Amino acid sequence: MIIDTHAHYDDEAFDTDREALLMSMYDGGIEKIVNVCASVGGFQDTVDLMEKYPFIYGAVGIHPDDADKMKQETLDEIRRLSHMDKMVAIGEIGLDYYWHKEEEEHQIQKKMFRAQLDIAREEKLPFMIHSREAAEDTLNIVREYMQGGIIHCFSYSREIAAEYLKMGLYLGIGGVVTFKNAKKLKETVQYAPLSQLVLETDCPYMSPEPNRGKRNSSLNLPYVAQAIAELKGITAEEVIDVTRQNAEKLLGIHQ
Ligand code: NI
Repeated sequence: MIIDTHAHYDDEAFDTDREALLMSMYDGGIEKIVNVCASVGGFQDTVDLMEKYPFIYGAVGIHPDDADKMKQETLDEIRRLSHMDKMVAIGEIGLDYYWHKEEEEHQIQKKMFRAQLDIAREEKLPFMIHSREAAEDTLNIVREYMQGGIIHCFSYSREIAAEYLKMGLYLGIGGVVTFKNAKKLKETVQYAPLSQLVLETDCPYMSPEPNRGKRNSSLNLPYVAQAIAELKGITAEEVIDVTRQNAEKLLGIHQ
């Protein structure tokens, strides 16, 4: 059975069939899902999903896209919600210089990234990090906070991966690994030990081949497991088994 460590089932892309889709997860081989908060004003949607479905867990935090909308109340809310039993991580947090090019925006993102990492450290929760075109700043900040965590949708070189792996962090691997042109990521997956990889969808985005471009869901994760298995010369069952154990250990969701 598979654990999806990063999903957004509160997204409006699921409004038409969310209930039916989530009820089909177990039969599709999906045992647990972490629904990850991203936007200011969106926390309650994740809390509702956690309360309604026993197999859904939560991560609470604000994506760098929304860093400029954060206030002290937002940070207080993150801390309060992090105390919930099924809230297993602080995320998704980080830096995005692809969509935000101004130095002033980078300063705000870095400040809010650190503030949320402080909460993760104080509450003893792992973090889930989003980082795009901000490799060096992300690495420097994460070095200050070396407790457990996942670098979500890892998109940098093998050399950067090596730095995170040395810190004992996990790399979140999703649909991109199935794309023909994802040479860098395929190299990273071959190089990284299976004991430091976890599966994720980032659904509704990042659907793997053969469903690339369509709405993604956790039901597509067997394609991701298969692609990792081929790159590593092992079976998909082994990938599914070990990545599940990795996620259970990091997120504290054994049972
Ligand atoms: Ni995400």
